[in-house]
Formats: sequence, structure tokens, C-alpha cells
Amino acid sequence: MALTLPARPDPVHEEILGSGLLPELSHALGGPFHFVLPERFDANLAAFRTVLDEAGVEGKVYFAKKANKAAAFVERCAHAGAGVDVASHGELREALGHGVRGEDLVVTGPAKSDQLLHVAALQGALVAVDSPDELERVLRLDPPRPVRVLLRRFPSSQPMSRFGLDDRQLDAALVRCAEAGERVRMEGFSFHLSGYAVQPRADLAGELVELCLRARVLGLQADRISIGGGFAVDYTSAEHWQAFLAAQRPDDYHAQKSFTAGDFYPYHSPVAGADALRAILAASPNGAAGPLADRLRDAGVMLLLEPGRALLAGAGASVFGVQGVKDRAGYGIVTVDGTSLSLSEQWFNSEYLPDPVLLTGGRQAVGPPYRACVGGASCLDSDLLTWRKVGFPVRPAAGDLLVYPNTAGYQMDSNESPFHDLPLPPKVVLNSTGARPRWRFDRRPAC
Ligand SMILES: Cc1ncc(COP(=O)(O)O)c(C=O)c1O
Repeated sequence: MALTLPARPDPVHEEILGSGLLPELSHALGGPFHFVLPERFDANLAAFRTVLDEAGVEGKVYFAKKANKAAAFVERCAHAGAGVDVASHGELREALGHGVRGEDLVVTGPAKSDQLLHVAALQGALVAVDSPDELERVLRLDPPRPVRVLLRRFPSSQPMSRFGLDDRQLDAALVRCAEAGERVRMEGFSFHLSGYAVQPRADLAGELVELCLRARVLGLQADRISIGGGFAVDYTSAEHWQAFLAAQRPDDYHAQKSFTAGDFYPYHSPVAGADALRAILAASPNGAAGPLADRLRDAGVMLLLEPGRALLAGAGASVFGVQGVKDRAGYGIVTVDGTSLSLSEQWFNSEYLPDPVLLTGGRQAVGPPYRACVGGASCLDSDLLTWRKVGFPVRPAAGDLLVYPNTAGYQMDSNESPFHDLPLPPKVVLNSTGARPRWRFDRRPAC
């Protein structure tokens, strides 16, 4: 029996898969490619904004750009007046270049380069200061107007975090900001937590609201907090996920590889995306009487959030061509025309688990599923897109396509590499309105 983890059904993806467009694109592009769906991004953004509105909380959504490099998504942010969270000079340049206004950017990440701080200050971006020495570098900038800053809080619930300022450093930073007068505008505080839990986010947000009140006593503006990202994506049903975790063992993987369940992304999440924001706003911080939403309103504090993965839920997929298939005892090895670096989960001792879909161009299933792992077109034994022996309805054959669903959030390009002089998979933007999906390049290819 093959171990399976079906992605949640998605009518838009099914329509694209059934349209015949993907084989045409594979033929035209001559290699693997990703497709992205900006309309999905728009819908996810709208859902977050609706939750803020319904809770009566003033807020702003910043797309964490690191989750996908496609131009299409930042263009949608520019169009919708959404913010973008950038963590490098390159990301800042990209966002500005695609029309996002400097004042709609938040700059995150540790020990930001002087170049990044300088341009951020000139553009009026909000800078989440991560350390005392970074604050000193900000105070030495000489922009025409005060630099807008947040102070990033070290999360005591995650004591191994390498980010943020602890209590003592925050106290000192507040005094430095107050003394700096017109050089900085201290707008509030920020955090980003690992994991997807609701209550720790509500607790820390509550703490930051109190910090805002303390900072105001020093004459600082302190009227907003950022709760970062970490809104889960629900890739599969609870039943499939539980069954997968209970069943998986080394024999399910090529080379008897073993994965620790805790290293997998939580592919099922009972509360995901904008619903997670709703739950955070409804939770009482640190056992307080009322919900976080009330606390924010009462204190006049605006809520900023930086979702990456959740804004990209269902907003794209990755398509590889099958180049060859070989049989091994009891299973096969499919080799595709790209590498595992175009599917980034192996960063985390893990792999991307939702089942890839095989497009055969019409060959019918006869007999039991054919189990096969999926290897990359490289000379590395460890270059496996999927170590798991996936149960394909028929034995894959050269020329078939493998479509990995729902890969826009982090999978497509975080690790991509032109190893072996293989070209990076291009991205095409699909527009699903109308009788047949239409496509364009995300970026015009260099001629
Ligand atoms: C500061 C910050 N904000 C936002 C995010 C986005 O997180 P996610 O994609 O889980 O929403 C990250 C991810 O690392 C981050 O470090």
C-alpha cells in the first residue's frame, strides 16, 4: 500500500489541470516551471482585511515577500494598497520597483545592512529594529525626516530565538528613542513567533500593547504593534494527516529514509489563514478579562501583520516533466527535469508532502498503483524531490508531467539554484477567469 497525503480538493487547480494548458507550457518552456494565481492572493488578502473589519480593529496587512519572489504578488499588493514586509535590499528594491510605496513597507530581519537601512529611511519605510547596535546605526542615519521604527521584542516564550530586544535592552532603547527627538519616530513594537499557535501570539500582542502605553509616557508615538506572520496553511484534511502520521515508517521512503513527524510542516491545521487572525483577536491575552481586539481598540493601538505563506495559500503549483523511470525492488525511481532545490522543504530535514498529481495525457490505470519516489536531474544521491514512494495510478513515463500542488508559499524559490547550469524554473501567471486559463510570464524572459 502506498502512503498517501492528498491535497485538499481545489476546483481552480482541477480546472487548470484539465485544461491542457500545462503540457503546452511544458513543451514551450522546455523544462520545469511554476504557475502562480494572483486572484487567489487577492482573495486571501481580502479575507484578512475582512477579519480586521469585522473585529473593528484598525490594522494593516504586509505581505512577507520572502515567501515567494514572483513579481505578480507584489504587484497585487501595490494595486490593493497592502503593505510588503521586506528583509533585504533586493526585496525592498523589488517592492518599490513594482509600485509599492515606501511608506507601505516594513523592513524586518536581523542586523540589516547599512544600505538597506539607508534606503528604507529615505523611502519612509517602517524599520523593525532587532538589536541595540542596529538602533545606534539607525540613529546615525541622516534622512530628511525622522526614521520610522518599531522595536522588535525578544519572545520569552521562545527563549532560543535569536531575534529581538530583551527587557533591559528595550528599556534602554526607549530612552534612546526619546532622547533622539526628531531623528526617529518610535511607532511601536513587533515580534514574529515560530510555529502557528494562537494563544502565544495573543499573549505577546497583549504585552506589546502594555509596552506602547509605557512608551507613550516617554513622549513616544507608540500606536501600533506588528504580530509578524505564522498564520498556518491547511493543505490536507485532519483524517488524511492523522492517518499519514500514524502510518509512515522508513519502508515508505526511498533508501529507508526516516523522517521525524515533528520536523514535518503541520500539513493540517484546524485554524488556518485569516481564521487564525480571527482566533488571535478573540483570545484573551495573558488571562485578561476581554479579547485582544478590545484591548487594541481601548488602547488606540493599530495591528500590523506580516503573513507570507497564508497569503499564498492555493496561489500556485510547480510542474516538472518526467525524464525517466527505473524499477527497483518493489518500487520505482522517477527522475524529473528539475531538482529538489525547486521544492524547498528539505531545509527543515523534511519534505513537501502533499501528493504530486501525474498528468499522463490519457494512459489509463491498469492494476494496482505504481509506487515511486521522485529524484532530481542532478548527480547527487540526496537530490530527491520526494523520498516517499508515492502511489501513482499508472507507471509514469518520459513526457508525463508531475504537478506539485499549492507550492506558492516558500516551496517554489526559497532554495532555487542553477546547479548543473540548469535554468531556474520560470514562473507563469495564470488568470482563471474566462473559458480557458490565460497565461503570461511573471517576468519578461531575457532574450
Ligand atoms: C519577521 C517575519 N515576519 C513574517 C514572516 C512570515 O511568516 P509566515 O510566512 O509563516 O506567515 C516571517 C517568516 O520567517 C518573519 O520572519
